[in-house]
Amino acid sequence: MPGPFHINTPLVESVGMSRRLGTTVYLKMESSQPSGSFKIRGIGHLCQQKLQDQGATVKITGEVWDEANTEALRLTETEGLTYVPPFDHPLLWEGHSTVITEIAASMGWKQKPGAVVVSVGGGGLLCGVAQGLRGVGWEDVPIVTMETVGADCFNAAVKAGTIVTLEAITSEAKCLGAKTVCRKAFQYSQSTEQAIISELVTDQQALHAVETFLDEERVLVELACGAALAAVYSGVIQRLQDEGRLPRPLGYLVVIVCGGSSINREQLANLQKKIPRPT
Ligand SMILES: Cc1ncc(COP(=O)(O)O)c(C=O)c1O
Repeated sequence: MPGPFHINTPLVESVGMSRRLGTTVYLKMESSQPSGSFKIRGIGHLCQQKLQDQGATVKITGEVWDEANTEALRLTETEGLTYVPPFDHPLLWEGHSTVITEIAASMGWKQKPGAVVVSVGGGGLLCGVAQGLRGVGWEDVPIVTMETVGADCFNAAVKAGTIVTLEAITSEAKCLGAKTVCRKAFQYSQSTEQAIISELVTDQQALHAVETFLDEERVLVELACGAALAAVYSGVIQRLQDEGRLPRPLGYLVVIVCGGSSINREQLANLQKKIPRPT
C-alpha cells in the first residue's frame, strides 16, 4: 500500500517571532512537505492507492478557484474523471488533522499551546486543525484563523452568522480564494466547545510577512501562508491579548506554516509590483 505521502515536518521555534511576541512561538513547517504545502496530508489520505499512476496531466484553468472547480466538476461528468475536492471532504480533514497529532507528539502530549494560528481558504485546513485538537484532547485551545481582505469567505460567514458567497476574489492570495467556505468550517465557528477567532489582514501585511519570514527564517512561502505569519508580524496576536480575547501570558503559540508551491523569485517580484506599499 503506498503512502503516507506526507512527511513528519519540523516543529521549530522562531526566535524572531518569540522576541516580538514575548512568548515562545513554534512554527509547524508544512512548507517542508515534498509538495511544498500541508495539502498533501489530506489529499494523500483521500487518494491512498489512487495516486499510483504518477503520469498525471496537469490542466490549469480559471481565474479563481471557483472557476477551476466548475471545470473539474464538468470533466468528472463528461470524461468520467475522479474529482478530488480541495477542502470539503471528511478524509481531507482527517489527513490534515495529523498536523496536530504531530505537534502533540513533539510536545510529549502534555504541554498544550496557548493558541494555534492557521490560514483559511475554503476551510479544509481549519477543519483538520479543529478535528486534530479535539482528537488530542486540546479542544479548549483557541484557533486564530487568518484570511486576507478580498479572500475572506470564512470571516464573512462568521460576521453574517450564516454561510455567504463572496461576489469576487480581490486579494492576490489566490490560494485563499474560495468564494464560499465549507459548511463544516462554519459549523466549527458556531460551536461553543472551541474558540475560533477570525481575523483579517491586508495583502500588504501578508506580503510584508512573506518578506520578513524570508529574511528571518530563510524560507519562501506563498501569500496565503503570509496571512498566518502576519498574525505575529502585524501584531494581531498582541492586539487580541490587549482585548482580552487571548490570555497573557499565552503559553506557547503555534503557527501552521502552510507553505505553498506557487511562489518563486519571479512570482514574489510580481507580487511586490502588484501590491502597493503602505504610504
Ligand atoms: C498555502 C496554502 N495555504 C492555505 C490554503 C487554504 O487551505 P483551505 O482551502 O484548506 O482552507 C491553501 C489552499 O490551497 C494553500 O495552498
